[in-house]
Amino acid sequence: MHITRRPLATTSVSWVSLLWPLLLFLLHPLPTAADCECGYSTTTTTSGGAESDIVFSELLESDFTRVDYFGDDYKGPQRWARQAFDKTASTARGPFGEAYVTGNARSDIIATTAKNSKISNNDNCGLQLVVGSKVVDGMVQNAEIATMGQDYFHGTYRVGLKVTDVPGTCTAFFWYFNDTQEIDIEFLSHEFNRTNNSYPVNLVLQTAQSRAAGYDASRSDTGTFQKRELPFDPTAGFHEYRIDFLADRVVFYADGTVLAAMAGDGIPSVGGNLLLSHWSNGNPGWSAGPPAADARSVVSYVKAYYNSSNATRGKEARSRCERAPAGARRCRDRGGFFSDPGSGGSDNGGGDNANGQGNNNGDGHRNAASPSVAMGRMGALALVVALGAAICIVGL
Ligand SMILES: *[C@@H]1O[C@H](CO)[C@@H](O)[C@H](O)[C@H]1NC(C)=O
Ligand SMILES: *[C@@H]1O[C@H](CO)[C@@H](O)[C@H](O)[C@H]1NC(C)=O
Ligand SMILES: *[C@@H]1O[C@H](CO)[C@@H](O)[C@H](O)[C@H]1NC(C)=O
Ligand SMILES: *[C@@H]1O[C@H](CO)[C@@H](O)[C@H](O)[C@H]1NC(C)=O
Ligand SMILES: *[C@@H]1O[C@H](CO)[C@@H](O)[C@H](O)[C@H]1NC(C)=O
Repeated sequence: MHITRRPLATTSVSWVSLLWPLLLFLLHPLPTAADCECGYSTTTTTSGGAESDIVFSELLESDFTRVDYFGDDYKGPQRWARQAFDKTASTARGPFGEAYVTGNARSDIIATTAKNSKISNNDNCGLQLVVGSKVVDGMVQNAEIATMGQDYFHGTYRVGLKVTDVPGTCTAFFWYFNDTQEIDIEFLSHEFNRTNNSYPVNLVLQTAQSRAAGYDASRSDTGTFQKRELPFDPTAGFHEYRIDFLADRVVFYADGTVLAAMAGDGIPSVGGNLLLSHWSNGNPGWSAGPPAADARSVVSYVKAYYNSSNATRGKEARSRCERAPAGARRCRDRGGFFSDPGSGGSDNGGGDNANGQGNNNGDGHRNAASPSVAMGRMGALALVVALGAAICIVGL
């Protein structure tokens, strides 16, 4: 059975917060009943525009503000990998090549263990994806992370993201199987215009047709390419961007509002992986750049609720639900993390077991107990907690 540390910070009384580190040391992880055996329920938007319930068996929740998934201290299941590869200028389809370097994907976690502390928009705690201004050997220095699993099939995929304001990069949140089975949300920082308040986002299904057209997504509103104006400045703060990938449609959202929906032959038919990247290759028709100064986009979290394309996992999910004790439930989305109700609201939709912990499928769906990860570094955290402030450790 999966055992998770109980979240503690459900109080805002500051003297209790001051005792936080002590409490954490004194308390052992408590065994908890498994739940969510019958999956995670949330809502999606139908083609008619109505909200409808939907349920998925699998979960990946990553809190990049509190866990350095790439650091030595991280002992949890490794579900993300920083990418290291090169694309030459010709395969990159730009005047410059692209070098993806692990050093450009940098964790800068929040310098407090308090779960209630919120990162403010002035802070950049989270995973920093950096595009360097310096071109090295004809290659722009870029950043990308990808899930190790390749079985992300129908699902709802969400990211908390603050986009760079330095012109000349592409920040992308995407689902990928191959170059004709791909779903992208792409921000081109050179397209933002503060003077007229224009903040477009590019929503793309890469299909066999777009391949035939030389992947020229710049011809707007070809059904599987849509440019939408955001109702806010994506460089000024964190917002949630979301892809709902379903059998018959793909729906794109910003902060829970539908930006576009796509249907038809371009909907992928297989499982793939999830990626976040920040890149430039100097192509004036797309990323533009390279940026004049180092550019960084910051990822605060990823929440993925999905069904696996791996038939064995599907079977396991069904039997997990069948075997679950009477009253075992489907958990309902409350806006926070299912795996961590202390993070702001997910709880159990079904009644008696409110701890929301311990999906017992044993492969590390659950987030590592983030407080313990952050603990080691926290000499002066008590003051920070008491002030309710959130600062990042490194302050990159
Ligand atoms: C995901 O899988 C579960 C369990 O098989 C199933 O009940 C549910 O309908 C699936 N969800 C979607 C959107 O296909
Ligand atoms: C991508 O995968 C699909 C499904 O397997 C396949 O039909 C298609 O030909 C592939 N595209 C490329 C470019 O390999
Ligand atoms: C704002 O300016 C950009 C050029 O920077 C232009 O493409 C866009 O259409 C303008 N938007 C509005 C709403 O005027
Ligand atoms: C931004 O928009 C303004 C007003 O539409 C326009 O005059 C200006 O040239 C635009 N800036 C850029 C960088 O495109
Ligand atoms: C499918 O899932 C099973 C059970 O989790 C796992 O053992 C197996 O390696 C997976 N297969 C693939 C191809 O990933």
